[in-house]
Amino acid sequence: MRFSFPTANASEGAVSVVVPELKAFAKAPSDYAPAKAPVFFNPVMELNRDIAVLSLRVLHSLVQRDLTVCEPLAGCGIRGIRFAREVENVKKVIVNDLSSEASKLAEWNVKENGLDEKVAVENKDANDLLSHYASPRRRFDCVDIDPFGSPMPFVDSAIRSLRRGGLLALTATDLASLCGVYPRPCFRRYGGFPLRTEYCHELAIRLLTGAVVRSVAKFDLSVRVVFSYYVAHYIRLYVIVESGAKRADASLKQLGLIKHCFSCFHRKVTGHMFLLGSNTCPECHEKLSVAGPLWVGRLIDEHFVTLMLEEARCSLPKRRVYKVTKLLTQIKQEANAPATFYVVDRICDSLNLPVPSVKKIISELQKKGHQAGLTHFKPTAVKTDASAKTIKEIIVAEIAASTQKKNSQRLTLK
Ligand SMILES: C[S@@+](CC[C@H](N)C(=O)[O-])C[C@H]1O[C@@H](n2cnc3c(N)ncnc32)[C@H](O)[C@@H]1O
Ligand SMILES: [Zn+2]
Repeated sequence: MRFSFPTANASEGAVSVVVPELKAFAKAPSDYAPAKAPVFFNPVMELNRDIAVLSLRVLHSLVQRDLTVCEPLAGCGIRGIRFAREVENVKKVIVNDLSSEASKLAEWNVKENGLDEKVAVENKDANDLLSHYASPRRRFDCVDIDPFGSPMPFVDSAIRSLRRGGLLALTATDLASLCGVYPRPCFRRYGGFPLRTEYCHELAIRLLTGAVVRSVAKFDLSVRVVFSYYVAHYIRLYVIVESGAKRADASLKQLGLIKHCFSCFHRKVTGHMFLLGSNTCPECHEKLSVAGPLWVGRLIDEHFVTLMLEEARCSLPKRRVYKVTKLLTQIKQEANAPATFYVVDRICDSLNLPVPSVKKIISELQKKGHQAGLTHFKPTAVKTDASAKTIKEIIVAEIAASTQKKNSQRLTLK
């Protein structure tokens, strides 16, 4: 078939598809080629799609039935095609895009991969399509919303089209809003205020989760957060939607605020959505800034990630296993960690001190009986239940000890 634009072949996972020739659409070095091409395809999102495939394989291992999946914002169709080819028990995938060129290309790719029986391609508005599947026997086991920017305009219809116990996967790329550069659009879309802190990407996931919890609650539904992560230019959230007003109430109880002191790094998680109590930092008496309302509960289900890791090792192509398992392993390690994290170099900058080893800080915190570990959000950060004051004391002591050691080595050498 001939397309009205230059094309290339892309291989990913177990499929090969036709995509726009991205080089042809990046005229200036600053051009973001996927957005300039007539049909969207971003090779950088391979990791996002790998993990989406793993999550579906895990969903199947948990529910033990054939799965139906919807990808209502599909671009060239690569994600839905991978679901159909790489997850044995997926019996039907609906792939859809508002752009007729995208739908045509997706249809071509489905045929070329010999999947016409399993994958149906539509050319509708995503909300329109999802509403069509909202009645009880039509619903999907998984809906994967992978839009430009915010997924929120599609969340209500996605929930309505999702079977109870189904998996909702959401990508958000509007990080300028979610991370506090533009607080107003963040409040409009997510109903909470962001903060430009060093842990703003975690806050972004918490804001998105909070918005989803409120969206499902009006249907007397709740969510179980099974997986979430941040990579480069997007955040991703996986929740299992469950029925029951009591569970919905329990989920709503996990919405709160995070108060942050920009002067001394102190932060406090509150388990309620209202600004109660003092708004002054207990450490330095400066005014506290507030993020939220947002989700203050767990962001990772350890069991779910463990199953994803097993699936990654046995099902991904060899060249992908290292990258994917490295991220999943990091995330698994922080599954039970407290909210927010401290960035050691930021604290050292403020103290005008050199940066000690992050691993050493973690071991000192653990020696003092604190929970402490690394986080996938930032390699130089520590997730811990210790206060900012304790971390600063440990940093100061570490630097003093290493200076003393260097000085005594110099004296010995002389
Ligand atoms: C980020 S791309 C999707 C990428 C794809 N999920 C993947 O993994 O390669 C977003 C897609 O949403 C489509 N889109 C935008 N608004 C839409 C709407 N209201 N309904 C359906 N599709 C829409 C765009 O045409 C675009 O192809
Ligand atoms: Zn303070």
